[in-house]
Amino acid sequence: MSLLIRGGRIVTAADDYVADVFVDDERISLIGENLDISADKVIDAAGRYVLPGCVDPHTHLDMPFGGTVTIDDVESGQTSAAFGGTTCHVDFVIQGKGQTFGQALDDWRAKANGKQVIDMGYHMAVTDLAEGGTLEELATLPDQGVTSYKLFMAYKGALMVDDETLYRTMEVAAQTGALVMVHAENGDVIDVLVKEALAAGHTEPLYHALTRPPEAEGEATNRAIQLARLAGAPLYVVHVTCKEAVEPIALARERGWNVWGETCTQYFFTSLDDIAKPNFEGAKYVFSPPVRDRSNWDVLWNAVRTDALSVISTDHCAFRWDTQKALGKDDFSKIPNGGPGLEDRLKMIHEFGVRAGRITLNRMVELLATNPAKLFGLYPRKGTIAVGSDADLVIFDPDKRVTISAKTHHSKADYTLYEGTEVTGAPEVVLLRGHVLVENDELVAAPGIGRFVARARVGEELRPAPTVAA
Ligand code: URP
Ligand code: ZN
Ligand code: ZN
Repeated sequence: MSLLIRGGRIVTAADDYVADVFVDDERISLIGENLDISADKVIDAAGRYVLPGCVDPHTHLDMPFGGTVTIDDVESGQTSAAFGGTTCHVDFVIQGKGQTFGQALDDWRAKANGKQVIDMGYHMAVTDLAEGGTLEELATLPDQGVTSYKLFMAYKGALMVDDETLYRTMEVAAQTGALVMVHAENGDVIDVLVKEALAAGHTEPLYHALTRPPEAEGEATNRAIQLARLAGAPLYVVHVTCKEAVEPIALARERGWNVWGETCTQYFFTSLDDIAKPNFEGAKYVFSPPVRDRSNWDVLWNAVRTDALSVISTDHCAFRWDTQKALGKDDFSKIPNGGPGLEDRLKMIHEFGVRAGRITLNRMVELLATNPAKLFGLYPRKGTIAVGSDADLVIFDPDKRVTISAKTHHSKADYTLYEGTEVTGAPEVVLLRGHVLVENDELVAAPGIGRFVARARVGEELRPAPTVAA
């Protein structure tokens, strides 16, 4: 099946020009002006942007967490992603206590089987090197296309690892070429602060934020950077929220160390004012690291502009407010941590980043597609528009007006963090390897079309190669 996209404004991280794109056998095979070629399907993209499909390197679909399971499974989460212009994501496999990494990977693959709407890869979240996974097994994962290890420095008693596990994993990564990802908050200190708050009778959602101060994020970020340097491992700090964490990352990058940072859409738009909302409304904003004071919004915009932070992800970890967040009605520490966002990232960053003049269109593409693809071994198959790349494309209407709402989104979450926000600019047609996923506000493709992508190691490119079913 061939496809011709006529006359769109092609925007990549580097370029911005009007041309036609010809797609054959799932890949881009020709780009040029007024191509004289016939195709099975023609899309008129005049007046539209043609963007690379966005890549989200940080999602949690069908994940057991906080006494429940995230409400979006692979099908609903990826459907939501597709409507938002995201055509590839990397989800976290969580190694259960006592599980080998192979067993954990099998569990996650079973959850995805037959349900995939977009392409995907996996990170491995290491939780246990004592009884289940071994360092030897960890070292084999990059050969299976799982080229990043994630460690939680927080969530004591659940996902948190000690510094020995963190450091040993870094040593393995230094050998195998995998990227180490950290959730950087000091879990021991947070545990003390949570106990003190509860003992003082503070049970409301606001205390989730007050017991996870920016210093706890800054300390863990510094520690991870120094340990990664010692181990000789490349480091990626996920969901950075504040000045205390941006500064050490910026310094490491200035020094030329292999350190990168990511923030997430929600940290530009939510604050302590939200989590302090009455009648348990604040629980919608319980995620970790927590919302910060508004002064950090400018810190983050500046960081993504200057490349102190190189990626904007979603950390989509959706729970229903009415039933799941309610687990913590009487105790903030029992509110499942996480929020929805897979569908909103491109629209929100386009509106408040590009249209507001904070970042350029090219930089938006770089932050949402190209850099995540490069860092996570998907580039240039994903994350750009080039001959040979997968035809993962978003035909984006820069004039389309949309009001973001849980009434119309495709996540199973019963709320969005941006309810009622009006934006101008939204995906019109979304293509995965040349197949139409979304058109006329409808999901056109059937679940099962998405594939598992075996990713390359840090610094290596992913050239066209066969993909395998999940
Ligand atoms: O609150 C959050 N972010 N939930 C998802 C797990 C994580 O820490 O990324
Ligand atoms: Zn995290
Ligand atoms: Zn996360």
